[in-house]
Amino acid sequence: MERIRTAVIGTGFMGRVHLEALRRVENVDVVEIAATSQDKARAAAAGYNVLNATGDWQDVIRDPSIDAVHVTTPNVSHFPIVKAALEAGKHVLCEKPLAMSVEEAQILTDLVAAKKLRGGLCHNLRYYPMVQQMRRMREAGSFGDILVVQGTYSQDWMLYESDWNWRVDPKVSGDSRVMADIGSHFFDMAEHVTGLKVSAVCSDWQIFYPTRKQPKGGGESFSGKLGAAGETVDTPIVTEDFGATLFRMGRARGAMTASQVSAGRKNGLVLEIYGTKGGVTWRQESPEELWLGHRDAPNQVLLKDPSLMGEKARGFADYPGGHTEGYPDTFKQLFRRFYASISDPSLTPDYPQMADGLRQMKILTAEMASHKAHAWVDVPA
Ligand SMILES: NC(=O)c1ccc[n+]([C@@H]2O[C@H](COP(=O)([O-])OP(=O)(O)OC[C@H]3O[C@@H](n4cnc5c(N)ncnc54)[C@H](O)[C@@H]3O)[C@@H](O)[C@H]2O)c1
Repeated sequence: MERIRTAVIGTGFMGRVHLEALRRVENVDVVEIAATSQDKARAAAAGYNVLNATGDWQDVIRDPSIDAVHVTTPNVSHFPIVKAALEAGKHVLCEKPLAMSVEEAQILTDLVAAKKLRGGLCHNLRYYPMVQQMRRMREAGSFGDILVVQGTYSQDWMLYESDWNWRVDPKVSGDSRVMADIGSHFFDMAEHVTGLKVSAVCSDWQIFYPTRKQPKGGGESFSGKLGAAGETVDTPIVTEDFGATLFRMGRARGAMTASQVSAGRKNGLVLEIYGTKGGVTWRQESPEELWLGHRDAPNQVLLKDPSLMGEKARGFADYPGGHTEGYPDTFKQLFRRFYASISDPSLTPDYPQMADGLRQMKILTAEMASHKAHAWVDVPA
């Protein structure tokens, strides 16, 4: 099989997750790592046994021998890096959110299509085996016609006024924090599993801390929870700590919340779907279980086991039942499909793409407009 030469830009939380998962993809060699400095890139390259390191991501773009690029930097740099990589003829796998606005996301979606390149977007949470089981059961009609979709994505890592991260800065993260960062995972999963599209939203957001204590030294994601101390500056906060959205999906109705201030919830993504024949609930904090609800029979809990899963979902579970497959495995599943689609241009992509990133930007923009107007807002198709 032809080997694909790839590079990873960004060496923070996601950069490391991508680098680990890439080692589990059979036909890929990571040939370069780009960070904000040569020293940082070199340290990461040594850790992952990668030959080349650079402090300038443009070096990756300029190298014609590199076929594909992973973009794992903070949100504001996604657009310029992805655009440059696509223009240079490279396939791109970008972290979510794809861009800072619908306009930027549209440009990238058009560009990837015009260039006939592969453009993946890291809504990896779709690839927990039991999420795929839920999707395939819905396709098979197990839940009947969908009536109600509800859930949450709740975390606690920004609970204290002293909690800080680049996501707080709208110039780096965008005008929305919680809804863009984790609400987008909820909506991507809800649309993917139900096969329905969100057509309108009514959203209410809240900033609990008008100022936060910004460390003078900065810090990577989630490092604040380990108690990094030092001098701080009181900085005004303009992006939400919490959001709640009512939504319509055709005939179906839904409600969700997203929060970074819910004590005890680490990555509490919960998706509940109720149809005319039955219900189903999946929880990211216990991802191997699928709750199946019945009105006229005892409810069930299906524990992940490839032999008990539907045929189409089984391909997302590589280990036997009782051997947990978790967050890192979702990246492996996504990356394998992404690189398979590069090796075989005739394959129809079965992974989230830039168009899905554009979709999330449209939902987010409608939520923001709804919150500001105190009114329902339609989501364009
Ligand atoms: N799919 C998921 O589950 C998931 C989870 C967390 C974060 N993310 C996304 O991943 C992205 C990164 O988030 P993170 O949590 O890893 O942040 P992070 O702060 O841990 O890491 C970001 C890294 O990018 C580096 N960087 C910044 N600008 C750069 C540039 N121009 N060139 C090279 N490196 C640069 C920073 O120095 C830092 O090391 C965000 O867009 C975020 O939304 C996705």
